Amino acid sequence: TYDSDDVGTGNGPVPDRRTTKLAVVGAGAVGATVAYAALLRGAARTVALYDISKEKVEAEALDLGHGIQFMPMAEVIGSDDIAVCADADVVVVTAGAKQKPGQTRLDLAEATISLTRKILPPLVEQAPNAIFIMVTNPVDIVTYAALKLSGLPRSQLFGSGTVLDSSRLRYLIARRTGVAVQNVHAYMAGEHGDSEFPLWDSASIGGVPLTQWRGTRDAGPMTPAVREAIARDVIESAYQIIKGKGATNYAVSLAVSRIIEAVLKDERRVLPVSSLLDDYYGISDVCLSVPTVVGRTGADRLLEVPMSADEVANLRRSAEALKAVARRFGF
Ligand code: 2OP
Repeated sequence: TYDSDDVGTGNGPVPDRRTTKLAVVGAGAVGATVAYAALLRGAARTVALYDISKEKVEAEALDLGHGIQFMPMAEVIGSDDIAVCADADVVVVTAGAKQKPGQTRLDLAEATISLTRKILPPLVEQAPNAIFIMVTNPVDIVTYAALKLSGLPRSQLFGSGTVLDSSRLRYLIARRTGVAVQNVHAYMAGEHGDSEFPLWDSASIGGVPLTQWRGTRDAGPMTPAVREAIARDVIESAYQIIKGKGATNYAVSLAVSRIIEAVLKDERRVLPVSSLLDDYYGISDVCLSVPTVVGRTGADRLLEVPMSADEVANLRRSAEALKAVARRFGF
């Protein structure tokens, strides 16, 4: 047994007094909900909200703070001073233009890139050792631009990518097959946007390869037509939600909180985050999503997922689409 004299003497267990800090940049619908989701899930001990609107950010922090009693132990701070992000362990960037009904994510590129140019260098100055998670759309382009602008290593800065789209895919497969979403393993890959596609060849339901799923009493097998309809549905999801309520915020925030936890708890989760590819199926110098091991050092290792010829072709198409946009902005 140890008594308190042992603490810190090197003779006994030293309690870990280091706390974790999450900084969320942008207190809009997504930023505020990311903070809320992260607090509810106990992702970090301190959650800092930063936004250029003092009134808005202070109000969001106050509203969240009033709920602390009902959450795992945490502290919330909010400010229009970027120093609120100092020494964060994870910085999540949600600031940027909002997608209007009818707009694609790529339509937002110009506005978000110029904002990224402005805010990223001071953020890196405030939290040079943080893992940076870009969320603002078009997330793959923004991630690529942010990497180039910051000079940070590829594992330290990555985008939320298709983690959300993959949860949409799993949700739809689960509903179709009548199996719990937790037992469905399937990823959307490529662009977080219109050229994304499901990795059907590596998908499984309760350990059964999805392409061999025979169906149940309630629903037939996952035929190519069924799969195609589901893929289309995933791509259309955001448009449908934006049309109805102006923005998406709940599922994306839960997805981002999942990524934050994978980092801060060093979980080594397989998540399809958007990171810089280097000779992945022969594709380099573009950020897009493939299943990646995420832990305390960030987006560590890309999984070499077996892909059908169609899937590889889709990945190339997604890469070309994104490279064309990046080139348009001088990257
Ligand atoms: C989403 O997929 C709009 O990128 C956002 O919900």
